[in-house]
Amino acid sequence: MKYKSQKIAYQFFLLAMLLFVLQIIYGFIMGFAHMGYDVLHDFIPFNTAVTTHKNLLVVWILAGFMGSAYYIIPDESGQELWSVPLAKLQFWSFAIVGVVAVAGFHVGWWEGRKFLEIPRPLDYLVAGNVILFLVIILMTLLKGKQTTTSWVLTMGLVFAALLYLPGMIYFDNIAVDSFFRWWVVHLWVEGVWELIMGGILAYLLIKLTGVDREVIEKWLYVVVGLTFISGILGTGHHYYYTGGPSYWLMIGGIFSALEPLAFLAMTIFAIQMYRKGNKKHPNKLALYWTLSTAIVSFLGAGLLGLAHTLPGVNLYTHGTLVTAMHGHLAFWGAYASLILAIISYSMPLMTGRNIFDNRIGHLAFWCSNIGMIAMTAAFAAAGVAQVYLERIAGYDFMTTAIEIQPHFFVLIVAATLFTTGIVLFIINFFKFGKPTDEALQTEEAFEALKTV
Ligand code: HEM
Ligand code: HEM
Ligand SMILES: [Fe+2]
Repeated sequence: MKYKSQKIAYQFFLLAMLLFVLQIIYGFIMGFAHMGYDVLHDFIPFNTAVTTHKNLLVVWILAGFMGSAYYIIPDESGQELWSVPLAKLQFWSFAIVGVVAVAGFHVGWWEGRKFLEIPRPLDYLVAGNVILFLVIILMTLLKGKQTTTSWVLTMGLVFAALLYLPGMIYFDNIAVDSFFRWWVVHLWVEGVWELIMGGILAYLLIKLTGVDREVIEKWLYVVVGLTFISGILGTGHHYYYTGGPSYWLMIGGIFSALEPLAFLAMTIFAIQMYRKGNKKHPNKLALYWTLSTAIVSFLGAGLLGLAHTLPGVNLYTHGTLVTAMHGHLAFWGAYASLILAIISYSMPLMTGRNIFDNRIGHLAFWCSNIGMIAMTAAFAAAGVAQVYLERIAGYDFMTTAIEIQPHFFVLIVAATLFTTGIVLFIINFFKFGKPTDEALQTEEAFEALKTV
């Protein structure tokens, strides 16, 4: 860590880890409910659980992005953050709004729009908070050295904030509302969040592989180009049978089928940089997480996205557990693993404790990744069976739900392995302790340590 103010990232990472644990607990509640043991139904019915699970996911990933920006932007621009007190205020207001929103879901304070359930009054607080965050980041960036990496990351964050706005407009027509809901949900995960991902991956690869910044940043342009060419019109894969014009079948099908290219470019980019690099950096775990982000995101988002993106397939799979199959591996590979990568990279630097290549960390990496791939397989089996039974054989929804219960036993077993990995990751996180100014050092000094 070069600047004292980078330490603020720790609070965001800590919040992210706590909310991640809560998210997993709600995952188990639903897994058991699907198995037929909906024992908490009177207190936390399924719709509350699923909403809480997904929103906790979004809130902890956003906390992770914010922490990453607070860590990366001072380093890239070569100076302290513009205002640490304001960054602290932003942290606390973000945490309070997030927790109030999630608590509200349990007393029916929500909107029934998948992923955008947070009620409108709270949306204004979210917007204010994000504006404060962006002001701090932009002021730091504009005052200092400007790099492609920091601009791609910052533009990703700015666009993500702007794209939250279409979800705040009130429509009394549910089809129109749904049309604009996708501007947020789709254009986030398959558009501007990919810029945030590209920026953070580029930063990590520059630090971990020792490859020249110019080479890495050239790739970044390729990734950004492919993302926009495919992702914007790719939104059409959500407009197939929603009451809109039929040209979306063609546009959505073609452009969304191109979307995996951006993820493939990211995979090739990371692997090439790893192969070119000097492989001397002592923090092997951060490199593992960086590479797994690039590879698993291609599997989960690219390949499993492609699996149901063509209109002829989506007609049958829409809104089934096939979507959940893809949603889990895509979110895990692209965004959750990315946050775990930057945490693994920055914790030794913020705390000065060099526990970056230990057994627990490696075990955490393998258990969580294998566990999530197994969970994806369980969702896939359940999803395909559901599609056949419900949409081809014509069984009703609840009869099908009972038929596919055994797959959720497999899901719970896989989720237990996954959770073991995450618990180990968090144990390591706490072992680092808190960040300290004594850890101030240059990257070179850190590399010279090379002690395990
Ligand atoms: C122990 C771990 C977990 C379990 C048991 C679990 C279980 C579930 C279940 C049962 C659903 C509802 C499926 C349905 O009926 O529609 C769900 C939804 C979802 N979960 Fe998880 N989950 C876990 C962890 C995660 C993680 C780590 C992520 C992200 C990285 C995640 C992302 C999602 C998403 C995006 C949805 C919504 C899927 C859709 O749109 O259909 N979950 N989860
Ligand atoms: C990291 C990137 C991605 C993430 C995190 C992600 C996550 C998700 C989630 C959570 C949903 C459910 C949304 C909802 O119902 O509100 C979804 C739906 C969908 N995704 Fe992705 N996705 C990603 C990339 C992709 C890509 C690249 C493709 C295509 C190649 C794709 C194809 C689809 C399709 C077709 C649906 C609609 C499923 C349905 O009709 O039920 N996704 N995605
Ligand atoms: Fe999409």
